[in-house]
Amino acid sequence: MAPARIEVLIPRDRIQQRIAELGAQITAEYAGRSLVMVGVLKGSFMFLADLVRHIDLPVRIEFIGTKSYEGTTTSGQVQLTKDLDKPIQDEDVLLVEDIIDTGLTLNYLLHVLRQREPRSVRTVAFLDKPSRRRIEVQGDYIGFTIEDKFVIGYGLDFDQRYRSLADLCILVS
Ligand code: IMP
Repeated sequence: MAPARIEVLIPRDRIQQRIAELGAQITAEYAGRSLVMVGVLKGSFMFLADLVRHIDLPVRIEFIGTKSYEGTTTSGQVQLTKDLDKPIQDEDVLLVEDIIDTGLTLNYLLHVLRQREPRSVRTVAFLDKPSRRRIEVQGDYIGFTIEDKFVIGYGLDFDQRYRSLADLCILVS
């Protein structure tokens, strides 16, 4: 079997250009307020790092971790592996996701965060794969909407590899 080839789906320049647009939009919409940006480990680390440099507001950074279990039911199961360090009560929270795929992780995290009584919660996702949704949920800010392809790079992994690629790529066998 030939080794998998890596092909670029979205090049780094386009990623950076889109992130600058998102940062400007978020800065304008939250003007006069401060934000708690909550990165979902591990896939969002690169997106969060680039996006925050385009957000001209006082920002606190937090991370949260999840793990998914594929059960026999269609609902799936998501569990926290790492919680926030500090409370978010009365804060404006921006959840930062790498990709919204089935939507199970986002749905679960929104539920968890809302229980903590923040002033508001919105979501920014680098990628959206709407054709894969198993639960109706959507991001407030989306970098790129993509087809049903497994992507790697720019923080996203296949078996914990390829996260460091600066472009968003696909594996072609
Ligand atoms: P969910 O299916 O929306 O709950 O997404 C769960 C997680 O699966 C995402 O946060 C990603 O880390 C991972 N994931 C989903 N699609 C891909 C992909 O195409 N490449 C790499 N990771 C993915």
